[in-house]
Amino acid sequence: MADPTPEAKHIRDSIVTLSQMMRLEHANPHGNVHGGIVMKLVDEAGALTCMRHAQRPVVTVAMDNMSFRHPIQIGDLVTLTSRLTYVGRTSMEVRVEVEAENPLTGNRVHTNTAHLVYVALDSAGRPVPVPALILETPEEQREFEEAETRQGQRRAQRPAAGATE
Ligand SMILES: CC(C)(COP(=O)(O)OP(=O)(O)OC[C@H]1O[C@@H](n2cnc3c(N)ncnc32)[C@H](O)[C@@H]1OP(=O)(O)O)[C@@H](O)C(=O)NCCC(=O)NCCS
Repeated sequence: MADPTPEAKHIRDSIVTLSQMMRLEHANPHGNVHGGIVMKLVDEAGALTCMRHAQRPVVTVAMDNMSFRHPIQIGDLVTLTSRLTYVGRTSMEVRVEVEAENPLTGNRVHTNTAHLVYVALDSAGRPVPVPALILETPEEQREFEEAETRQGQRRAQRPAAGATE
């Protein structure tokens, strides 16, 4: 029997905030934080938001360009905030904001913003429908429409079934 359609949920119900102090093992050869560490944390925060929303395992299918605006220093507290912007049938887009704070001075910088797409999977590893989004504010509605446009562009760039990349 097919699963019942999941009930729609609010964006605020799946917002995730992750904080982690940057240590020596996170450094690149120049002594700042390695970009790959930030990308991994961004992916984790986004996946957690989608798991919370779908209450299913999820996989990453797309990560948009990521520009790093400021270096993150060892000793900084990095905080990632992830929220849903869009939900399709089985796919979800999140926006992840990254901020670095020097805990000794309190100085905070916004280092980057990323958009990622995840797909929820059933127990056989197939895409499965996720709850729709209840949009509560004009800002959420605007973000949803922008994300829908991005998702349309990503779909258009997907290789045709059977094509080799
Ligand atoms: C997730 C996966 C099972 C989906 O399989 P699929 O055959 O592409 O399934 P579908 O074509 O039905 O796509 C499922 C959804 O994902 C979306 N999607 C798939 N690839 C996408 C991409 N590159 N960008 C944006 N959305 C994408 C589709 O639009 C669809 O969304 P919708 O249901 O909301 O309309 C498959 O792509 C997969 O296993 N990918 C690898 C995931 C992974 O290992 N990630 C970690 C990489 S390190």
